[in-house]
Amino acid sequence: MKFYPDLMTDLSGKKITDASMWSDRKKEIVDILSREEYGYMPPVYGETKGEIIKVNEGECAGHAVHQDITISFPTEKGEFSFPLRLVYPVSDRKVPVIVYMSFSNLLADHYIPLEEIIDRGFAIAEIYYKDVTSDDEDMTNGLTGMFTRPDDGTGFGKISIWAYAMSRALDYLLTREEFDPEKTACQGHSRLGKTALWCGANDDRFRYVISNDSGCGGAAYERTKHEGAETIEFMNGRFPYWFCENRQKYAGAEDTMPFDQHFLIAASAPNNVIVASASLDQWADPYSEQLSCVGASPAFELFGKGFSGTEEKAKVGDNFDGGKVAYHLRDGRHFMSRTDWNLNMDYILK
Ligand code: GCU
Repeated sequence: MKFYPDLMTDLSGKKITDASMWSDRKKEIVDILSREEYGYMPPVYGETKGEIIKVNEGECAGHAVHQDITISFPTEKGEFSFPLRLVYPVSDRKVPVIVYMSFSNLLADHYIPLEEIIDRGFAIAEIYYKDVTSDDEDMTNGLTGMFTRPDDGTGFGKISIWAYAMSRALDYLLTREEFDPEKTACQGHSRLGKTALWCGANDDRFRYVISNDSGCGGAAYERTKHEGAETIEFMNGRFPYWFCENRQKYAGAEDTMPFDQHFLIAASAPNNVIVASASLDQWADPYSEQLSCVGASPAFELFGKGFSGTEEKAKVGDNFDGGKVAYHLRDGRHFMSRTDWNLNMDYILK
């Protein structure tokens, strides 16, 4: 058994034994992850506004309203804005809303079963991630360029910037009466699943935090890798800019990390987290993602039921959704599928 930094012992050595002690411990955890992994997120500079620029009342055969919205907010270097595509069901009740950070700027793409989402009574608020900042090492464009980035190893990576944008979308959505503030979710796939987890860790207004196939730097443990899994060393070569520079020193030295990814999952407690894996996605390491849920469980147990699975490797089709941190192992490849969406929505509706 590997040694994992203890989630439930704070930096002074005190055991975290009840819910009232969690918020201080959570702050420590977010601080460790900010300094060593993702970089510190920039502060909020003022109020977020939303301007509706286009409306279609007849989306999804008239069951939904589609609005194109410009989200804008002040930053260190002036105003920044990005487009938000919002579709919500026509309903006389407040509906759940999923803020979805997307790889495409099309609402109904192959990762988004739009009509099904609407028919199940959910709103989706979609952000195209490159409308926020480029997916490369250029730290001067888009929202990334609107803040001074510390050069002491703790400067934000792109994941922090995408996560920050998801929170600004929520600022606006919470001003709208159509949405249920107790049924708010942030969701993403792969690098954007890592982003959703980091967003939930920093913004407890998101009641559901949903990571799909997020793997290395996301839900999967760094100390425990199974065959074919991605490592920090690989990421340092291809995607160092998603993280802060301090993370790079842990390549091949994972045992020296003062955290592991169970800290990231736990940082959303007492809100709910869903970790979704796919059976053929060895790169994201499904079993390691499951073990990380086991490791995160004690934080959620302070508030109710933790993880309803165990360390025994999940079988394809398993869905451990009985606690505040849920895990499912969907059949197939690295993808955000209809099955994933439906299991996530089932969980939110419980
Ligand atoms: C690469 C990367 C992963 C990432 C994925 C994605 O495969 O190595 O860490 O999750 O891209 O975002 O699609």
